[in-house]
Amino acid sequence: MAATATFGFLDDDTARSLRGKDLISIHDLEAGQVEKIFEVTRLLKAQVPAGEARRILEGKTLAMIFTKASTRTRVSFEVGMWQLGGHALYLSAQDLQLRRGETISDTARVLSRYVDGIMIRTFAHDDVLELARYATVPVINGLTDLLHPCQALADYYTILEKKGRLRGLKLAYVGDGNNMAHSLLFGAAKTGVNISIATPEGYGPAEDVVKLARTDAAATGCEIEISHDPFAAVKEADVIYTDVWASMGQEAEHDVRVRAFQGYQVNEHLVGAAKADVLVMHCLPAHRGEEITDGVIEGPHSIVFDEAENRLHVQKAILALLLS
Ligand code: CP
Ligand code: NVA
Repeated sequence: MAATATFGFLDDDTARSLRGKDLISIHDLEAGQVEKIFEVTRLLKAQVPAGEARRILEGKTLAMIFTKASTRTRVSFEVGMWQLGGHALYLSAQDLQLRRGETISDTARVLSRYVDGIMIRTFAHDDVLELARYATVPVINGLTDLLHPCQALADYYTILEKKGRLRGLKLAYVGDGNNMAHSLLFGAAKTGVNISIATPEGYGPAEDVVKLARTDAAATGCEIEISHDPFAAVKEADVIYTDVWASMGQEAEHDVRVRAFQGYQVNEHLVGAAKADVLVMHCLPAHRGEEITDGVIEGPHSIVFDEAENRLHVQKAILALLLS
């Protein structure tokens, strides 16, 4: 009997609308589908007994292609598949024929004959789109230079858990207008969280991402502010979020970026300018002493390890919805 038949929460109209689909950008999801991911997350995290959960993806396999390093994404997807009764294969791009020139389109079609889903972490976002175009199984974006949707979904789920709601809250993102900033923007627009992004000049989020997020925001009433003023951004903020100043692939720019980002550190002074009960978040890995101080990340506002844990729970929901 199909797992969906025995798990009602995987068998309503919204769940069915996600089955077999890719997860490449939060922008591609309906607001109701995001809510569904959060509902399934809550059930899998707190209510479905482990023995039952193991029937959800029994016999299913996820291929995980990595061309960049990872701790959280690799381990949480692998453990998540195991907890749902399936299996995950770690595939370093270094060892695949991709490195020797086999095309993404051929790789997609071959892997689709063996596995039930493909998760990929890579540089060029277009490579993920190409993989999804040719794969006949769901493709999940585990981070590109442009987006990090699974992280942002885990982040909004964590905020929901802590605050009991999302709509109308204010999230201040201080730092680089990078893949995290982009996915947080799309997530804010879908969930109705107001978002204020402060970056140094020249390091803002991509204009086309902001434009798309504004179209989604019109439906949820989310307010989007883009500025260069971290103190204005964190004023009345419920959440302060930051990420590294030099992302994977930008190592050569590190020193230039550290100079450009002076004044954009999430430190005690900046946190003191937000609401008294502000939550501090970071996708990790962190560069303590650069984008965030040790005191803040270890301090009472920080929820970075709950956030990291929720990668596992939210991705289990995504896997259950897409692959079952
Ligand atoms: N936050 C995140 O994606 O961490 P990893 O790079 O360790 O996967
Ligand atoms: N912006 C960071 C996120 C790491 C999870 C990077 O791309 O390296």
